[in-house]
Amino acid sequence: MPDIKLTKRQTIAWDFLMDNTTNELIFGGSAGGGKSMLACLWLMTMCLRFKGIRCLLGRTTLSSLKQTSLNTLFEVLKMSGLESEKHYKYNGQSNTITFNNKSEIILKDLETKPSSPNMDELAGIEITCAVIEEASQVTRMAYNIVKSRLRFKLNEHNLIGKILMTTNPSQGFIKSDFYIPYVEERLPSNIKFIPSLPHDNPHLPQSYLDMLNTLPTEQRKRLLMGDWNYNSDIDSLFDFESIASCSFKHSPNPIDKKYICIDVARFGGDSTVISIWVGLTIVEIIKYNKLDGDTLYNHIKDLISKHGIHPSQVIADSDGVGGFLVDRLRCSSFVNNSSALHGQNFTNLKSQCFVKLSDLIKEGKISINILDPSTVDELTQQLLAIKLKDVEKDGRVGVIGKDVMKKMLGVSPDIADSVMLRMFYEVKNLKSTGRYAISFVR
Ligand SMILES: Nc1ncnc2c1ncn2[C@@H]1O[C@H](COP(=O)(O)OP(=O)(O)OP(=O)(O)O)[C@@H](O)[C@H]1O
Ligand SMILES: [Mg+2]
Repeated sequence: MPDIKLTKRQTIAWDFLMDNTTNELIFGGSAGGGKSMLACLWLMTMCLRFKGIRCLLGRTTLSSLKQTSLNTLFEVLKMSGLESEKHYKYNGQSNTITFNNKSEIILKDLETKPSSPNMDELAGIEITCAVIEEASQVTRMAYNIVKSRLRFKLNEHNLIGKILMTTNPSQGFIKSDFYIPYVEERLPSNIKFIPSLPHDNPHLPQSYLDMLNTLPTEQRKRLLMGDWNYNSDIDSLFDFESIASCSFKHSPNPIDKKYICIDVARFGGDSTVISIWVGLTIVEIIKYNKLDGDTLYNHIKDLISKHGIHPSQVIADSDGVGGFLVDRLRCSSFVNNSSALHGQNFTNLKSQCFVKLSDLIKEGKISINILDPSTVDELTQQLLAIKLKDVEKDGRVGVIGKDVMKKMLGVSPDIADSVMLRMFYEVKNLKSTGRYAISFVR
């Protein structure tokens, strides 16, 4: 592989592209996550590594392919030190890039046209591997035809047919055939889905992210947040506008109680997130990556004394490794899956607290006084991913589990969980404790 440093998610995808078990890989879920770069790098690497092969680079229209992916391909070739005419030739007539070892990348229009409803031209070619850019724009038939053409020189090079599809969130067959089965963990083992977000790509200019931020809600959710449910929010607990309106809504009142809420990392990739509150105002969010138990404990001890917070106003999620912190700090313990308080009709305490958080955000009582825009973005994105499960037969209300959320976001919802922990105190101190969370059941 040339000297291009892949992003974390591109690296995960790369391993699937180079293995001999994955047949289909879907990469994407928002704008600018490095989809085209990954695709072009893969095709070039395949061509250089295996002589005489034929790779397809397709998109709905050739003109959009030439304006986007082809430019990325030239960029990748250049970054890899390859020169036109010396190492490869581009033929603008046949739309082919041919390398010195006779391997080629052919650019193809994948639009199903009335003049050729069976896509005869496409159905007549043989290929070794394929990329479909913006796959949600092509028809299922075009995708099936591309898949069926994967056979050229596979045996000769001991390869398996492989197709990479890049996409932004959409409502078409990519969502029903790949995204939903991925979230529900029922994709067959030879098909992989790797979500990617603009924030995963450190090479994107800040101005581009700023531009995505100014888009109308639906587009922003789709392209910036990678939200596949951007237009079906009936089951969402939070909405973008109410979260956005919490920003610096109130000043912290010095006579209010302070709280520290700790969501402790459970697995290697997760972070420990601490939110510090004055009343219902979040004044600080701190994220720790991979801290050992003792260091984390000492950090929290320092925070407690710096802010003068009583241990009873410190709460940690005590599932798994969090238990040790609760013991050492003698703070309040939060068990996600414990019963809802006051006999209310929630599946567990965590669902009860998230619903409380949603209510208080909608009522304008929560203030998010955090200056760092990327932390606020992450929190927003995580809250938007929290959906209600179907109300269970016994009429209890629950939110989707952390694993499903992790799948939808591509990351663990640690910040949202830390913020949710604060609601334990609000729920605990409920004065009038209605038996049912009726305000919520719709
Ligand atoms: N590994 C990398 N190393 C250097 N630059 C990269 C890398 N990955 C992506 N980039 C750069 O980041 C920018 C966005 O990448 P790319 O065009 O591949 O994203 P995309 O997901 O295809 O975007 P879009 O949604 O607009 O199609 C490009 O300028 C690209 O050159
Ligand atoms: Mg692209």
